Amino acid sequence: MAFYSNYKNVLVDKKDGITTVTLNRPEKRNAMSPDLDEEMLDCILNLEADAETLVVVLTGAGPAWCAGMDLKLYFRELEGDPANAAKHVRTEWATHQWRWHRLYNFPKPTIAMVNGFCFGGAFTQLVACDFAIAANSATFGLSEVNWGVIPGGLVSKAFNAAVNYRDALYYSITGKPFQGPEAVRMGLINESVPDERLHDEVMILARQLASLNPEAVRATKQAIKATREMTIEQAHEYLIAKNGQLSHRDREGGYYQGISKFIDAKAYRPGLEPYPR
Ligand code: ACO
Repeated sequence: MAFYSNYKNVLVDKKDGITTVTLNRPEKRNAMSPDLDEEMLDCILNLEADAETLVVVLTGAGPAWCAGMDLKLYFRELEGDPANAAKHVRTEWATHQWRWHRLYNFPKPTIAMVNGFCFGGAFTQLVACDFAIAANSATFGLSEVNWGVIPGGLVSKAFNAAVNYRDALYYSITGKPFQGPEAVRMGLINESVPDERLHDEVMILARQLASLNPEAVRATKQAIKATREMTIEQAHEYLIAKNGQLSHRDREGGYYQGISKFIDAKAYRPGLEPYPR
């Protein structure tokens, strides 16, 4: 039985190496509930080791990508009730783990396919994904200030890391919503496309990513993410070691194939395309 067959809040669809994970509480605009977070953590952990998954696409059912944390189930019902303290600790852990730690460090490429509303806590998984493509009409917002809290969890940190200082302050302090093209301008997402093109554009990128040497992709992703927090000297040492690890892990010998197919066979031009696999 597939690991996802009992999920109630998450749909998993696998096709040709591309696994689409859909938050599935459309009636609540895919707001994250404790149960959804537990399922997402289980899902991400399974997909890390899933040989059929080369790329993950994260999207939402209905008119929302994700309306942030479920304000009723996470805030009103869990806070201030000592009987729920243990549950609160566990679900806080699950939501942090899947949305940042596991997703940011996921060993394969991830694409946020933002089909609609994206608010507050949803920015964590938005930034954690390697790529983000949105529908032009998708509406984003740091809405926390609108209901009297700060962008907590990791939202302030993640937003700051993705956009420039002025935009980070402007949109978090005002809580003003914005659409896909504005999200592109500030560097929060890669691309904003006509709504009806969203799925096809994401699949074009996903197929391209799925065709690359997975170990080279994995190491490159880790190199970019890890060196963000390092000094120049640390980064230099890390990258030497990471390259060594890659040649050890890469069973298809991408380095040797890449050079040989260019220099000897003249089969491709590495400046313009990947080596034929
Ligand atoms: N938490 C709990 N329930 C939610 C949430 C949420 N974050 N978002 C939507 N819902 C529920 C609504 O309560 C409503 O439930 P009901 O049918 O039982 O009354 C249902 O989803 C539909 O919501 P509507 O407001 O009727 O849908 P609409 O399409 O008009 O608006 C929108 C969608 C804009 C997303 C609106 O629901 C909204 O503003 N939601 C809150 C967004 C937000 O600020 N999230 C918190 C961010 S901060 C954080 O994550 C910590």
